[in-house]
Amino acid sequence: MKTSYRFACSAGVVAVLSGLSLPVAGAAPDPAAFVGVKTCGMCHKKDETGNQLASWQNGPHAKAFAKLASPEAKAAGAKASVDDPQKSGKCLKCHATAYNGTETAQIEKIAVEDGVTCESCHGAGKEYKSKTVMQDRAQAVAAGLIYPATKSCEACHNSQAPSWNPERYTTKDGKKTGFDVIQAFEKIKHPNPAAKK
Ligand code: HEC
Ligand code: HEC
Ligand code: HEC
Ligand code: HEC
Repeated sequence: MKTSYRFACSAGVVAVLSGLSLPVAGAAPDPAAFVGVKTCGMCHKKDETGNQLASWQNGPHAKAFAKLASPEAKAAGAKASVDDPQKSGKCLKCHATAYNGTETAQIEKIAVEDGVTCESCHGAGKEYKSKTVMQDRAQAVAAGLIYPATKSCEACHNSQAPSWNPERYTTKDGKKTGFDVIQAFEKIKHPNPAAKK
């Protein structure tokens, strides 16, 4: 039943921008619909099904808040008249799911310290998190699961980031680009080896 997801992405970005079932670019999702990473982790920490919780914890997104304490973060902050990046909405809008893409803390169930969590990419989980809904992709998507989640990346990986480097990635055909979803996803993927594709 599951179809291959991997590179169905550029159309996804267009879908986000034209936003039918998805929030229109700029409108933040309902803060009350987020459940937090502990809830997702309850069912997604078994090694047999890929332990997505551990992959996330070991990857860059769980460290996105901590990164804002680094010397590079202070330097980037200074250029944007930000004293302490860990306290500024100008940085936390992309470095902490708790800010929900805005410049203020909005989501009670998610601590700023958690950085960029599952729901920034997969969508707020309140309506799709039950086991029966999750097992059926069509139902999960109808209940708010963002699939493919590669639609979500460019909400943050864009030229508004102070770290944006328009030549960060080189595509297969030799073009330089600030974000290449295929290569970037390869670095953070967390597959379920037991899932039927
Ligand atoms: C009650 C247990 C449970 C909870 C809580 C839960 N999941 Fe799941 N999830 C599952 C099961 C079971 C599957 C199906 C496993 C499979 O076949 O890939 C699944 C599948 C998924 C998939 C793959 C969907 C697909 O169609 O390929 C994603 C993505 C996912 N979960 C993300 C999340 C996120 C994010 C959260 C927290 C908001 C979450 N899950 C909470 C049990 C759960
Ligand atoms: C538009 C979203 C966005 C905003 C706003 C943002 N960041 Fe980031 N930040 C990112 C992304 C995405 C990355 C990952 C690297 C990349 O692709 O640019 C990142 C990476 C970083 C890094 C790691 C350095 C690197 O090159 O990987 C630092 C440090 C950082 N950001 C500091 C800040 C500070 C300080 C602010 C506020 C002044 C801020 N960011 C605001 C999205 C953002
Ligand atoms: C930076 C974005 C991002 C974050 C953060 C993230 N994921 Fe994913 N996840 C993806 C993408 C992209 C896929 C590939 C499938 C798709 O496009 O939806 C995926 C796939 C999955 C799958 C399906 C694996 C399979 O092979 O069937 C599960 C389950 C999952 N994620 C759970 C989680 C959980 C739980 C968390 C938090 C602990 C999390 N993810 C954090 C982007 C993300
Ligand atoms: C809510 C904002 C947000 C979203 C959505 C997001 N990221 Fe990120 N991402 C960040 C931030 C912030 C960093 C920097 C964190 C750090 O350096 O610890 C980062 C870092 C990364 C990095 C390491 C830097 C690099 O370019 O090598 C990769 C890879 C990455 N993200 C891939 C993805 C992919 C793939 C998606 C979509 C499936 C995605 N991200 C979605 C905010 C986000």
